[in-house]
Amino acid sequence: MHNGSQIAAEYDVFQASLEALKKEKKYLNYGFTVSRCQSYEERQEQLCLEVFEAAGIGKGHTVVDVGFGSGEQDFLLSRTRQFDRLLGFNISNRQVQYASTRARMENLTERLSRLKASRKRDKRFFKALT
Ligand SMILES: C[S@@+](CC[C@H](N)C(=O)[O-])C[C@H]1O[C@@H](n2cnc3c(N)ncnc32)[C@H](O)[C@@H]1O
Repeated sequence: MHNGSQIAAEYDVFQASLEALKKEKKYLNYGFTVSRCQSYEERQEQLCLEVFEAAGIGKGHTVVDVGFGSGEQDFLLSRTRQFDRLLGFNISNRQVQYASTRARMENLTERLSRLKASRKRDKRFFKALT
């Protein structure tokens, strides 16, 4: 059976592999297909766009992303939708580090300011949801 530290370690290694491969888009989803011409990365991006639309994310909203991976979908969200802020939680320190650095480089720290690791229940997370 896995505990939180083992899962975090696995995602740390996974992130290191994605970085070593220099994979530009680091989505970790199976994608949504609207055309046979789409590449796998385009399908992955499409799935995120479908979710944003279905959730009706817009002005004044606080978005909570639990397990944000490399944060790829949060950067897409910042480019495509208006929202107030995003609270991101991730158990992998390497992914938190990667996403935080990228948020700084893309001048998005104001909206994506809460990229933090959480290994157990975080009271602030539950507060954000209520
Ligand atoms: C399959 S990946 C999905 C990543 C991203 N949401 C995506 O679609 O590209 C699962 C993510 O959940 C994170 N995770 C796993 N357990 C977690 C926990 N207890 N708290 C916060 N994040 C967790 C992992 O570190 C990883 O980033």
